[in-house]
Amino acid sequence: MKQTPETIVLVNFGCEGIQKFARAIRDRHIYTMVMPCTVPAERVMEEKPVGLILCADAGTPERPGAREKFEALNLPILDLTSGAGANDVDAAVAFCCQCGCTGSWTMEKFIDEAVADIRRQVGDAKVVLGLSGGVDSSVVAALIHKAIGKQLTCVFVNHGLLRKNEPELVQEVFARNFDMNLCYIDASDRFLDKLKGVGDPEQKRKIIGREFIEVFAEAAAKINAPFLGQGTIYPDILESIPLDGNPNGVIKSHHNVGGLPKNMKFKLVEPVERLFKDEVRQVGRLLGLPSELIDRHPFPGPSLGVRHVGPIERNTLHMLREADAIVTEELTKAGWYHKTWQTFAIFVPVKTVGIKNGQRSYDYVIAIRSINSVDAVTAQVVRLPWELLETMMERIVREVDGVNRVVYDITAKPPGTIEWE
Ligand code: XMP
Repeated sequence: MKQTPETIVLVNFGCEGIQKFARAIRDRHIYTMVMPCTVPAERVMEEKPVGLILCADAGTPERPGAREKFEALNLPILDLTSGAGANDVDAAVAFCCQCGCTGSWTMEKFIDEAVADIRRQVGDAKVVLGLSGGVDSSVVAALIHKAIGKQLTCVFVNHGLLRKNEPELVQEVFARNFDMNLCYIDASDRFLDKLKGVGDPEQKRKIIGREFIEVFAEAAAKINAPFLGQGTIYPDILESIPLDGNPNGVIKSHHNVGGLPKNMKFKLVEPVERLFKDEVRQVGRLLGLPSELIDRHPFPGPSLGVRHVGPIERNTLHMLREADAIVTEELTKAGWYHKTWQTFAIFVPVKTVGIKNGQRSYDYVIAIRSINSVDAVTAQVVRLPWELLETMMERIVREVDGVNRVVYDITAKPPGTIEWE
């Protein structure tokens, strides 16, 4: 039985900023959940809410009959269907207090409750977790480990496309500092052999995805755990719920386990599925994860694979990895790392003429991309200082064999995507 904090349910009648609104109320230590207006009343009551806030943007058409089912629940209601905005946070908090919320929901408390929930759910069984080194899976690993220690085994697959020093960092943090059961699998050769000669971006993604599942499933089968830990977070769930009951209306489908073979039947342990991204980060910090893991830029699952245009060769992948490390190092040194959403290098399989060490060279191009974004749906190019870009360029051309030209990508999204592939 899950422990339930004092919960306020925000009912979405068509409010674009509802996630932000729910998050802003949580900042005042009041636990909020978001549900679509099509939710069955029983589902609302399962969460034992102490009050409801009905939200819509100004001008959203009325939904005849939708409101009555909430009114019939006999709970206090704050009606913001004529337009819910950022300024309403204070009014919403005042309403929550009238409903009896004590403002005592903190991340420390969340951790205590999550640990108790995990222990209750898992008992003395084993849990397996795919650790990518990203924020969500790292925090979930630390949280489940706090709850059940060595009953958890993390599987970290090196698909050969990781950034420089990434395998070392993940092993250092988890196996060494956390004394965690970590199964490290270096499958680089397997992936790179399968990717040989493949230039089509979709094909590359498919190969990486398929191999990843196979390698993970092989490792998980040996561990023989009935439970699978997952780093599902609240936006993954919210964005997979259609507002109007029509499944085609979802922003993205939540199918983290969709790819696992059918004979692998796991029960899921998803302890941060009710948290927003920055709350997940707070939990990670409280659990002692280093900033290097917690505050890093978002990084795509297929990793350098989507930043290397054209067929991936070991030598050109090496160029990209080295160039990317230089970009990150210089960005950090200049104090710009945390001022950008993502900044990275791309390998461009085009050779151009240049002069290196006084000699004619005919080498490859590296592109640098730096963007800011709120939700990755749109992105703006960051105007990095010219001097910083020059330093990156000078080091890349000098230190990375095979590269003699560096360009800066000035394309916003749209029309460009963030990644090149
Ligand atoms: P695009 O390139 O579509 O990227 O503008 C939007 C955001 O999503 C990230 N991205 C991925 N993340 N697996 C991931 O986990 C992927 O296959 C993937 N492809 C893109 C990208 O880094 C950006 O933040």
